[in-house]
Amino acid sequence: MRALSAFLFHLLVTPPPSSAIRIHPLTRCHHCATLPLMVAHKNSGETSPGTVQFSPAVDKLQEFLHSNPSDGWERCWEERLTPWDLGKPTPVLQHLLQTDSLPKGRALVPGSGSGYDVITLASPERYVIGLDISEVAIKKARELASSSPNANYISFTQADFFTWEPTQHFDLIFDYTFFCAIVPNMRSAWATRMADLLKPDGELITLMFPIDDHDGGPPYKTSVADYEEVLHPLGFHAISIVENELAVDRRKGREKVGRWQRTMTVCSL
Ligand SMILES: C[S@@+](CC[C@H](N)C(=O)[O-])C[C@H]1O[C@@H](n2cnc3c(N)ncnc32)[C@H](O)[C@@H]1O
Repeated sequence: MRALSAFLFHLLVTPPPSSAIRIHPLTRCHHCATLPLMVAHKNSGETSPGTVQFSPAVDKLQEFLHSNPSDGWERCWEERLTPWDLGKPTPVLQHLLQTDSLPKGRALVPGSGSGYDVITLASPERYVIGLDISEVAIKKARELASSSPNANYISFTQADFFTWEPTQHFDLIFDYTFFCAIVPNMRSAWATRMADLLKPDGELITLMFPIDDHDGGPPYKTSVADYEEVLHPLGFHAISIVENELAVDRRKGREKVGRWQRTMTVCSL
């Protein structure tokens, strides 16, 4: 219970530490011309840094996820206990699209929730699948997407990320608040699934949150090292890891954009 409380605390509280930019030394970065140029952005209406919001809904959410390990997420959606939901796409996606630095082709958003990011990513050049274990979430996302001008390039699937077997691989996978939603002992399986689902030259984007020094948050607290620990053994390397300057205010300073690809063996003969 303490661990989950810490996760929820991370979702709702905002202590912003300093930023960092790390580029893999052995990798040519075809994105670094754009990503480090991200500018600070004020999202009106967002909670100010330092503000703490607690509500009975949070207690209920904790209770649901703990007392219903098999269908806790579904029950959260049924009860509209979705404090993680921004109610809009995460702003950095728009920036990445504007700078045309995202792979086209087929994209996957695991743990897609309400589907805002799926809808934002979709275009005639990019077909996007939103995957969520919750029937309610998928229904909500489908409704939302139905009025999108890119509705033809979107589909939502209700399935468990860890067992789902799609028929084709992906050029891009975008993970936002999915890694931090799964229990840590599933993180290796998460990485294996990413490797299985991506094309060999596909790109994994992890919008890593929450990243900070909060003590006692283990199960759902994340760090760059947590990602590296499970991705490096599978041959993924970071193309770039940068502070997300476009994070909504209450998450500012605790989000990093990680862009990963698998190491390709180059034959020099
Ligand atoms: C913290 S929410 C994030 C939702 C969305 N990415 C967002 O940023 O608003 C995590 C989502 O993952 C879904 N989920 C949890 N476990 C899952 C699994 N094993 N397979 C697919 N979806 C899962 C939940 O239903 C929930 O919608």
